[in-house]
Amino acid sequence: MKRILLIVGGGIAAYKACELVRLCRKAGIGVKCVLTEGGQHFVTPMTLAALSESQVYTTLWDLKDETEMGHIQLSREADLVVVAPATADLMAKMAAGIADDLATTLLLATDKPVLAAPAMNVRMWQHAATRRNVATLRTDGVTVLEPDEGPMACGEYGPGRLPEPDAILAAIQNALETGGRLKGKHVLVTAGPTHEPIDPVRYIANRSSGRQGFAIAEALARLGAKVTLVSGPVALATPAGVTRVDVETAQEMANAVASALPADAAVMVAAVGDWRADAAPQKIKKGAAPPNLQLSENPDILALLAKSPHRPKLVIGFAAETEQVIEHATAKRARKGADWIVANDVSGDVMGGDANTVHLVTAQGVEHWERLPKSEVARRLADRIADAL
Ligand code: C5P
Repeated sequence: MKRILLIVGGGIAAYKACELVRLCRKAGIGVKCVLTEGGQHFVTPMTLAALSESQVYTTLWDLKDETEMGHIQLSREADLVVVAPATADLMAKMAAGIADDLATTLLLATDKPVLAAPAMNVRMWQHAATRRNVATLRTDGVTVLEPDEGPMACGEYGPGRLPEPDAILAAIQNALETGGRLKGKHVLVTAGPTHEPIDPVRYIANRSSGRQGFAIAEALARLGAKVTLVSGPVALATPAGVTRVDVETAQEMANAVASALPADAAVMVAAVGDWRADAAPQKIKKGAAPPNLQLSENPDILALLAKSPHRPKLVIGFAAETEQVIEHATAKRARKGADWIVANDVSGDVMGGDANTVHLVTAQGVEHWERLPKSEVARRLADRIADAL
C-alpha cells in the first residue's frame, strides 16, 4: 500500500483536508496526519485520526510520540509528503529551510517527494514574497499545485483557494504512480490564445479556448511526466500535477518557453498571435478617423525552438487549417522544423467545442483521428509521445 504523510496547515481550507483524507483512504492510500498548531484551530486531531484510522501528530516535544516513532522516521516512512493546505507561512518556512515545529522539521528532514497544495488570501498568493517562495520551492523540486480561483472565505475573489480534494487526490496519485510511462521526462506545452495590446484596454486576440492544450497537459501528467504548461489568457482550471505559467503576449510566451527548457518534448498547441501592435500608452480616443494600427511580426516560438541548441528531442506543432488541411500541415512541418504536426480541421465547430478531427503528420506519413473528444486526442497523443521518448 502506498502511504502519504499529510501535513495540515492553519487555514480555513483545513476542513477540506478532512475530505482529502477520506478520498485517499477510499483510493487505498495510507495516510498519517501531522496537524500544525494553526491547523488545530480549524480541525481537531480527533477528526483526522478517525478519518485516517491512524494516530495524528501535533508536536515535536511529545516524549511518547518521539520514543515510539522519531520525527525523522515519520518524515521518511511515507512515499510522499503532502502539505494541504500549504499556507503562505508554511511555504515561506519551507523555502527558507526553517524548522521550528513538527511540520517544518519533517519537511526539512524528509528525503521523499513533497507536494504542496496552497491555500491563502489572493493578496498573499500574489505577494512578491510568496511568488519568490513558490519559485524557490519549485526549483527545489517541490510540486506546488496552482490554487483554484474563486470567491474566498475572506470575501475577496481570485486565485488562492485550495484545489478541490479530488484534484489534490489526482495529483497525489500521479506523484505516487511509479510506473508512469513518462516518469522522469519533462514536457513543455503551450496553450490558449495570446493577447496583443493595442492600448491599455484593448487587445488583438483569437478564439482559441485552450481546451485541447490543457487536455494534452493533463494526459501527459497522468503518464507521470513533469509538465510545464505555458498558457495564454484562458478560463480553465490547471490540471492536477501540472506546473502552469500564465502569459499574455506572444513575446511573454516565447520568454516563458525559453525559461522552461530543457525539456524532452514540446507540444506547441497555443494559437500564438502572428502580429503585435505598437501599444499606445493611453487609451486611444475615438476620433474622426479610425486609428492606423502599426503591426509587427511576433516571434515564431515553434520555429525558434526547433532551431534552438536546446531543442527538445521531440517538437510537435499544431496547425489550425480551414482548407487543404494535410497539404498545409505537411508544408508547415518542413518549414518550422517540427517532428510532428497535428493538423486540425477548424472549418467546423472545433474552436471552443469539445470534439476535434485531427491528422497526425510525421516523417512516416499521415494518420487520421476522426471526430474524437479533445480528451481522447490528448490521450492518444500523450501515448504516442511516450512511445517516441
Ligand atoms: O504558422 P501557424 O501559426 O499556423 O503555426 C501553428 C503552430 O506554430 C502551432 O503549433 C503554434 O503553437 C506555433 N506557433 C508558434 N509561434 C507563433 C505562431 C505559431 O509557436 N508565433
